[in-house]
Amino acid sequence: MPSSDSSAPFPGEFDFVVVSNRLPVDRITDDDGNPSFRTSPGGLVTALEPVMREADGAWIGWTGSADDHTEPFEHDGVHLIPVHLTADEVEKYYEGFSNDTLWPLYHDVIAPPAYHREWWESYVVVNQRFADRAAELASEGATVWVQDYQLQLVPKMLRELRPDLTIGFFNHIPFPAYGIYSQLPWRTQIIEGLLGADVIGFQRTADAGNFSRAVRRLLGYQTKGTVIDVPIEDEAEVSGSSRRITTGRDGRPMRAVVARSFPISIDAASYEQLARRPDIQARAREIREGLGNPKVVMLGVDRLDYTKGIGHRLKAFGELLADGTVDVEDVTLVQVASPSRERVTAYQQLRDEIELTVGRINGDYGTISHTAISYLHHGYPREEMVALYLAADVMLVTALRDGMNLVAKEYVASRFDNGGVLVLSEFAGASDELRTALRVNPHDIEGLKEAVLQAIDMPASERARRMRAMRKRVQEYDVARWSSSFLSALTSSSDDLALPKSTVRTPTRSEARAEERAVEEAR
Ligand code: F6P
Repeated sequence: MPSSDSSAPFPGEFDFVVVSNRLPVDRITDDDGNPSFRTSPGGLVTALEPVMREADGAWIGWTGSADDHTEPFEHDGVHLIPVHLTADEVEKYYEGFSNDTLWPLYHDVIAPPAYHREWWESYVVVNQRFADRAAELASEGATVWVQDYQLQLVPKMLRELRPDLTIGFFNHIPFPAYGIYSQLPWRTQIIEGLLGADVIGFQRTADAGNFSRAVRRLLGYQTKGTVIDVPIEDEAEVSGSSRRITTGRDGRPMRAVVARSFPISIDAASYEQLARRPDIQARAREIREGLGNPKVVMLGVDRLDYTKGIGHRLKAFGELLADGTVDVEDVTLVQVASPSRERVTAYQQLRDEIELTVGRINGDYGTISHTAISYLHHGYPREEMVALYLAADVMLVTALRDGMNLVAKEYVASRFDNGGVLVLSEFAGASDELRTALRVNPHDIEGLKEAVLQAIDMPASERARRMRAMRKRVQEYDVARWSSSFLSALTSSSDDLALPKSTVRTPTRSEARAEERAVEEAR
């Protein structure tokens, strides 16, 4: 692997640039100790790869290791441009401000956010580094798409450097209501940072509404439907950009910025393809056998994160075992909890709590032949995940707050047999689309227990009816559709952008009215 600290080659070469905190690859080491990179399992890269290839694109991001000076390299036809982070920046920008301030704040303060000025300072420095790199690599008039909450200042920083660019931003996590957001000492700077983009995408209509409300409250800008009029202060911006400039009531030039929902999805076809493979189906049978062939296998798959409601799920299952409603000989829960952000205290505490609870439930209700909860603190390759999805009669997604929750969509995409029941939290973005899931409020433990029992006892015909409807949605609105709808909004004219559109198709009149109402209510 080449390694030096040089600045990026290819200045001004790329027509399409994606900027995200992490590069879409994971570092692996072979048996002889040689390092290389492997495409990470997420769907974002699958969706963007064709666009990247066609537009000669570059992807800017961190490799995931501190003090790593890997040079730009090509992987599967995509130019990857690493951004260097020092160990101090990993601590303050990534673990600190991104994951101990913004993450809990944006997830409705499920855990208390910590506010530290030195974390903020590091966030500014690192965001500027990402913006500088994008400004350096983008060709004249290029499109730059910035991803997620770690990089919210990049759109404004980039526009200041390169007013000729078309800039998109997509927020993968929720955007909180103003009453919560307003806690943030740097709330105005973040809003201004985001407004540097031409299109700001959110997972849910309510998130877009919360953002527009914060813009009105903090900056007093006018918003109409999904369009925000942002006054232009800088002359260079007016002359540098040929697009989206209008004149405000006071005669000042304005940029029309769009803030609306674009619910993200997965590469649904690839999940179905895997699920149809005989070896993966055989593995699913083997998993059930390994669990002692219980009548019902329930499954939870999450990053080990306090937003995922793993504790609530365990509590409900533990109570069902305690009151004898379900028998450990009949029902097993498999909980995959993949390691995440392990140096952040809140994550360390969560792991202790979850593992204590699992140990207690297993100790109290397990038998020699049957374990109540099969707990796995690992990440698994996609093949194994699909085998688990096929093996699971009931999938439990009980997030307390979640931008989307792609696991819910992966389960649905894998169940080509129309089997399986999805129990889905109404606080996950996916519940807006997967309307025939058994939707639950995970805080309501009695309600959650009832939903679990309903899922266990659900007749096959009802399972199939519910699953078919969800599969249709996931197959039609896949990740390719998501990225193309975002990019077409980004590159279309300001007149088009002014229309309040649904994400991926023209809404009926009543849907459009409902969307408008939801935006209004969220204000
Ligand atoms: O969408 C939320 C997110 O933070 C992504 O930005 C990221 O790819 C994923 O979760 C995993 O988080 P991390 O990069 O902190 O391990």
